[in-house]
Amino acid sequence: MEIKADPQWWKSLFDGIYLLTDARSVRDEEITRLEVNIICHLLPLREDHWILDLCGGQGRHSLELTRRGYRRCTVLDYSGRLLKYGKALATPRGLPVAFVQGDARNLGLASGAFHHVIVMGNSLGYSPDPEDDGLILSEAHRVLRGGGWLLIDVADGTKVRASFNPNVWHEIGPDIVVCRQRRMNHDSITTREMVISKKKGLIRDSAYSIRLYHPQALATLLEKVGFTHVRVYPSFSPHKDKEDYGFMNHRVIITAQKS
Ligand SMILES: C[S@@+](CC[C@H](N)C(=O)[O-])C[C@H]1O[C@@H](n2cnc3c(N)ncnc32)[C@H](O)[C@@H]1O
Repeated sequence: MEIKADPQWWKSLFDGIYLLTDARSVRDEEITRLEVNIICHLLPLREDHWILDLCGGQGRHSLELTRRGYRRCTVLDYSGRLLKYGKALATPRGLPVAFVQGDARNLGLASGAFHHVIVMGNSLGYSPDPEDDGLILSEAHRVLRGGGWLLIDVADGTKVRASFNPNVWHEIGPDIVVCRQRRMNHDSITTREMVISKKKGLIRDSAYSIRLYHPQALATLLEKVGFTHVRVYPSFSPHKDKEDYGFMNHRVIITAQKS
């Protein structure tokens, strides 16, 4: 059976149910700490540096960076629901993270404002138009200072294809069951996701489609938008077991500099 996703799916699916379905990756503090260890290892961060957490969701990486003393983090995301959730985590803990709602394709932020831009947790490839990822990366380049660094953490398309599972499911706590039915396309995977609450019944039946990047194709795109010193670090995953974590099992980290 063909699975069709609304091209604008990413504008509505990052909500409270996503925080449940993807909790194993995006609400696990140990996983986030391991990811932030990589950021701190690969980027020349200083405590007075301005950091943009682009497509940052609820800002879990910014919250952890701020805890570690990097207190000039801005999270930009389209999802008002995730930003609200992040603010509710930051405020009572006294963590001075800025949360901004916006579209990564047209940031509306000043040029040259940041020393570092991070794009974590497989946040590219959502629009069916590949040009949109070019726009996001061009905007990252524009808002960086000369000499500033970009770090991208994205699914390794080659490995995701090689370990493709068409049907998977997992449970979250005593109530939630997440079932995913996938179809592999030419350059993307389309997923139908059904989320069942044992108490309430079906609480989501939606589809989404994510473009897969071969790491080298992304490196080439970064050079095309003006980045230099592009480096690819393959085989990254904070998950150590063999469960299926969607696009979070096989990732690649890419760093690049604005000259
Ligand atoms: C899988 S989540 C990852 C969030 C976060 N980086 C993390 O690792 O927890 C992808 C995020 O990208 C955001 N996003 C995707 N396209 C976007 C766009 N064009 N502008 C702003 N945010 C976008 C979504 O709203 C979502 O919060």
